[in-house]
Amino acid sequence: MTFLFLCDAERGAVFARAFAEHLHGVRFSMDLDVVDPNDVRYIMTWKPPKDLARYPNLDAVFCIGAGVDQFSNGSLPYGVKLIRMVDEGITRMVVEYVVMAVLSLHRNLHVYIDQQRRRLWREVVPQAQPADRRVSILGIGVLGQAALAKLQDFGFKLSAWSRSARSIDGVECFRGQDGLYEMLGATDILVCLLPLTSETRGILNERLFSALPRGTSIVHAGRGRQLDSDALVAALDTGHLSGAFLDVADPEPLPSDHPLWRHPKVIITPHIAAITQPASAAMTTIENLKLLQAGRAPIGLVDREDFSS
Ligand code: GLV
Repeated sequence: MTFLFLCDAERGAVFARAFAEHLHGVRFSMDLDVVDPNDVRYIMTWKPPKDLARYPNLDAVFCIGAGVDQFSNGSLPYGVKLIRMVDEGITRMVVEYVVMAVLSLHRNLHVYIDQQRRRLWREVVPQAQPADRRVSILGIGVLGQAALAKLQDFGFKLSAWSRSARSIDGVECFRGQDGLYEMLGATDILVCLLPLTSETRGILNERLFSALPRGTSIVHAGRGRQLDSDALVAALDTGHLSGAFLDVADPEPLPSDHPLWRHPKVIITPHIAAITQPASAAMTTIENLKLLQAGRAPIGLVDREDFSS
């Protein structure tokens, strides 16, 4: 059986070495032209390939990234599993990003960057202390939990919201629509780590912003289509929101004339919060293949019934 790798050759080379060393009985291939389509059981890709009907024995599509919104329900044949990348390399990078962004907003880096451009030497005082700073995370999956654990080290007041009930020591957890608005009302820095689904599309909108206390700032490392950027610009311009640290946009790349680029209260990064690291991702994938071959559920299996973006 063949595992067909349809991502970049550089990461493919790392995968090929790991497969040769740690997995037997699965042929690794990056070559669409030589592979026998009947032998392809697994495909790794970032976007759904167009010609999946070519592979009658396809069992699972592995996404090389953590987010799978690019796979709409119709893009995979019925019965083909979709597996997203749940990997410590991605988790570590997202945690780094969230900590960087929260600390930047907490310590007013966006204000100081703007002042530097204007050669202005001026302190923002008083500087809030972590015990008085309420940091709330939207999304309590693997990434949200890991970010919360790291943010606890700084002593922030932490809350988090998810669709289903959770409980985490030292974190006030909220769920459901009422819970969301209750949490928003007690937030100074809001971090979005939600996946893009039909429920979360456009969630960062005027209504949500107006439920936040004046002066709140936001970190967005979810998906661009969750953010109404006009509403964000308006909320920043009135001073209702004080800053934004954005890793995603809609569309990507953000067009060069978009007002967010030049907004003095905004820091933008080009969707780099997490970049799949091939060494750990290859081992994660190998472990998942072993689970699949043992008839067990792989880690990161997407519930396709539940999945629509
Ligand atoms: C990045 O956004 C990913 O989904 O891995």
